Amino acid sequence: MNILVVDDDEMVRFVLTEKLAECGFSAIAACDGLSGVELFHNNVFDAVLLDLKMPGMDGIETLRELRKHDPEIPVIMVTAFGDISTAVEAIKLGAYDFVEKPPQISRIIVTIRRAIEKATLERKVRDLGKSVEESAALKQAYQKLRELDQAKNTFLSSVSHELRTPLTSIVGYADVSRKKLMKFIPEFSLDNPKNIKILRQVEANLEFLIAESERLTGLIESILDLTAMEAGTAEWKWEPLSLSEVIENTAKDYSTKLKVKGLEFVVAIEGDLPLIKGDRHRISQLLSHLLANAVTFTDQGGVTLSAKKINNKILVSVSDTGKGIIASQHGLVFEKFSQLGDALTDKPKGVGLGLPICRLIAGYHGGKIDIVSEPGKGSVFTILLPVEEAMKT
Ligand SMILES: Nc1ncnc2c1ncn2[C@@H]1O[C@H](COP(=O)(O)OP(=O)(O)OP(=O)(O)O)[C@@H](O)[C@H]1O
Ligand SMILES: [Mg+2]
Repeated sequence: MNILVVDDDEMVRFVLTEKLAECGFSAIAACDGLSGVELFHNNVFDAVLLDLKMPGMDGIETLRELRKHDPEIPVIMVTAFGDISTAVEAIKLGAYDFVEKPPQISRIIVTIRRAIEKATLERKVRDLGKSVEESAALKQAYQKLRELDQAKNTFLSSVSHELRTPLTSIVGYADVSRKKLMKFIPEFSLDNPKNIKILRQVEANLEFLIAESERLTGLIESILDLTAMEAGTAEWKWEPLSLSEVIENTAKDYSTKLKVKGLEFVVAIEGDLPLIKGDRHRISQLLSHLLANAVTFTDQGGVTLSAKKINNKILVSVSDTGKGIIASQHGLVFEKFSQLGDALTDKPKGVGLGLPICRLIAGYHGGKIDIVSEPGKGSVFTILLPVEEAMKT
């Protein structure tokens, strides 16, 4: 600790610097206010012992100068007997305390230590206050961001709700029109090939309308699902669930799609899989999204859907021999609305909500989804799900 001693009395300067040094302080002395202030400007001190009565610049004036330079420096006034009122004035000006002459070294040491401790604590409190303020500001910004995110989700889900009703009518009317047309075609005069061409064209248009509307319905359902899961308002039906059963049922829905595309489909479920605590519909939804991706992004080879127990978890994996994903984009695919490749040339059919939904479903089940993939070689999506507590062996 560096202490500055300012006193016009040579004896006092000598005694104080010697004694302070003995007590482990490093003390520098100045013989008047002016040189004291100059020393203070050019060095770093932890406290100042300042004589009140000095010729020229007195203690009070020196104190003012010192505090101008460093408002927090602890200053202890050294006063002659009877100078109490001036000493009190010094304290009002920010001096920490005063000691009377002849200076009692033990009292001075205690006072210096206390003064330095107080200054350090004040600094800490102020820094802490700053960080509390900062974290309060951060919290506020975070809250604002959450509100904005919430507002966006609410908007997205209410718009989606609004779209659902007219879309249902579009699909319904298009379907009825197509059926009517199909009934009408045989009665129609087949003599004129031009008429037949027109009818086939109308039929194709209606089919396109239905397919696109169904796709849009799927998109709306995905948005509603995702926003509800994110907001925590989605409904979950938890039950002790046999994964093998859900996997087999979901696989059935996809075997035709894979066959149509000429892809091999292998389902490998380990026997005696323990139950999980799960939501049947959601797990099926998760597997459907992964299988849908595997079919979409694989043109040759096949898809394998497997499940096995590893310790107290069940590992479900969907692997394909498709186009694969470069490592730098493995994290990106789980983000909302992210689709890889060139949207213009690749013309993606989906919207990029499948994998974010999968991640949410896995998370709600206490599990996690991961990806291993290499361009040109294929992709493996794994979901690690915890076995239901009661079913653990
Ligand atoms: N098995 C896979 N092989 C290669 N790329 C994949 C595979 N699965 C996902 N991807 C890439 O990750 C992107 C995001 O997938 P995600 O399932 O979230 O969206 P999507 O399939 O494009 O649309 P959605 O699932 O909402 O209909 C895809 O667009 C695709 O680029
Ligand atoms: Mg998808």
